[in-house]
Amino acid sequence: MKNIDILQAIALEAGKIVRDGFYANKQVMHKGTVDLVTQYDLQTEAYIIQELKNSFPDYQLVGEESHQGSYHYCKAIYIDPIDGTTNFVHGIPHVAVSIGVWEDGKPVMAVVYNPILEELFWAAAGEGSCRGQTGLCVSSQTDLQQSLIATGFPYAKVNRGIEYRWTIDSLSNLLPNIRDIRRLGAASLDLCYLAEGKTDGFYEIDLKPWDVAAGILILQEAGGAVTNTFGEAFGFDDKGFIASNGKIHSQLLSHLKPI
Ligand code: IPD
Ligand code: CA
Ligand code: CA
Repeated sequence: MKNIDILQAIALEAGKIVRDGFYANKQVMHKGTVDLVTQYDLQTEAYIIQELKNSFPDYQLVGEESHQGSYHYCKAIYIDPIDGTTNFVHGIPHVAVSIGVWEDGKPVMAVVYNPILEELFWAAAGEGSCRGQTGLCVSSQTDLQQSLIATGFPYAKVNRGIEYRWTIDSLSNLLPNIRDIRRLGAASLDLCYLAEGKTDGFYEIDLKPWDVAAGILILQEAGGAVTNTFGEAFGFDDKGFIASNGKIHSQLLSHLKPI
C-alpha cells in the first residue's frame, strides 16, 4: 500500500468516530472561555496517533489535543482530530479530520476528511490534489471586488487584544472591496474549498500547525498560494495566514495590515 493510501485509510476510520459522535450526546469541556473539546476529539486523536505510530514510526506526531512544545521537526505529522469543534458541538456538518505530513519544513502528504458529508480531500507533493478521484484547481478570479473570501476568528478574540483588533480592522478594510465574506468554522476545509475554486481567498490570525498543515499542500497542489501578512512564505511561527488562488493574492494582502 502506498503511504498516501495508508493515510487516507486512517482518516476514513477516524472519521467513523467523528461521525458517530456527531449524532450522539457529547461531553463538552472548555480549554478556554470559548475553546471547546469533547470526548470525541480525544478519542479520535488517540486512534490516529496509535495508527500513525505503527505506519509512520520515524515521524514526530503533533496532535492538537496531546502535543506540547515545539512545532518544528525534520519529519512530523500534524493532526487535528476534529477541525471545527464548535460546528461539531452545535450539530453543523462542517467538520474534518486533518492530517498533514511534513519533511524538512515542507508538506509532502495531506488528507482532510469531512465524515458527515463524506468528502475526502488529499494531496501528495508534486502529484496534484483531489476530492475523491477528481483533481482540484483553484478559481480563475483575478478581481478582488468579485472574490468570495473566507476567514476565521481566533479564540483569543474574547480578550479584545491585538488579535481581536486585527480581525475587526481586516473585516472593515476588506468588506467594501470584495464580493462577500464566509466564516465556515474549519480552517482545513477553508483551504480545501479554496483549492477546489469555491472561494478565492482565505485569511486568519493565530492558526496552529494542525489547522493548516494538510490544507496548505492541498491548496498549493491545486495552484494556490500561501504567505504571511508580509507576503513571505508562511511559517508555523507566523501570526498571520493569507491564502488565495494566487491571482488575487497581492490585492488581498494590500487590505490586511502586516502582523
Ligand atoms: C478552529 C477552526 C476555526 C478557526 C479556529 C481554529 P478547532 O479549529 O479551524 O475555523 O477559526 O482558529 O482553531 O478548534 O475547531 O480545531
Ligand atoms: Ca483546528
Ligand atoms: Ca480541533
